[in-house]
Amino acid sequence: MSQEKKVSEAIKYRRSVRIFDAQKPIDTHTVKKCLELAALAPNSSNMQLWEFYHITSKDVIDKIAPYCFNQNAAKTAQQLVVFVVRKDLWKQRAKANLQYMDTVFGKNNPKAEQSSREKVARNYYGKIIPFAYAEFLGILGFLKYLMILIIGLFKPIYREVRKSDMRIVAHKTCGLAAENFMISMAAKGYDTCPMEGSDTWRVKNLLGLPFSSEINMIVSCGIRTEKGVYGERFRIPFEEVYKEV
Ligand SMILES: Cc1cc2nc3c(=O)[nH]c(=O)nc-3n(C[C@H](O)[C@H](O)[C@H](O)COP(=O)(O)O)c2cc1C
Repeated sequence: MSQEKKVSEAIKYRRSVRIFDAQKPIDTHTVKKCLELAALAPNSSNMQLWEFYHITSKDVIDKIAPYCFNQNAAKTAQQLVVFVVRKDLWKQRAKANLQYMDTVFGKNNPKAEQSSREKVARNYYGKIIPFAYAEFLGILGFLKYLMILIIGLFKPIYREVRKSDMRIVAHKTCGLAAENFMISMAAKGYDTCPMEGSDTWRVKNLLGLPFSSEINMIVSCGIRTEKGVYGERFRIPFEEVYKEV
């Protein structure tokens, strides 16, 4: 394999590729390494509410392609990665963070001996995260929102606490992992296409995922054919979207 591209080169090389070369397989281990880099993405509260389903079996790809409406990017993919949002795992992830605190600060530190950093961290995962993530049919979220509307009249406050807000938080984070992955793949000379066009319920069912999980995107992988990139890259003039304040 050729030398790894620099970040800026990889970003420029990455295109959404819709037709992959059937004669050019990609190395599963390399794709897995790129997923390890995906897991290093910045993520909200370090809750890591994501899972990556790396599909290498041609049989499974053939089953998923119709659920992606037989898009070329899915039909011709050598491999697929399904990026899954697991907001439902928030308790486990908060617990994992608290357990990590034990390794950093020591277990069963008496409150009086805790440093202010430790107190803040333990309070964050022990109280603030449950406050933000705990839900009951959207009702709790709405009550939290009302409370915040009132407090927010008097001081700056974090406002995104409704069920729908937390979904956005989790999807944002998962999207960052997907981008890390696609850039890492590009650095290796591998191609990808992110797809939100899929029947997410059917895909979840096929992967045996719980109903409460959500598909963030499916990224098809392979090596581009000459016609695999549909035209020049189009972007709105940068000065139209760049605002210096
Ligand atoms: C969240 C997301 C969902 C997308 N869904 C699809 C899709 O279902 N099918 C597809 O062909 N391209 C899809 N794309 C690719 C975009 O169309 C593409 O990124 C955009 O046109 C810019 O082109 P470029 O990626 O080559 O720079 C998606 C991209 C993103 C980020």
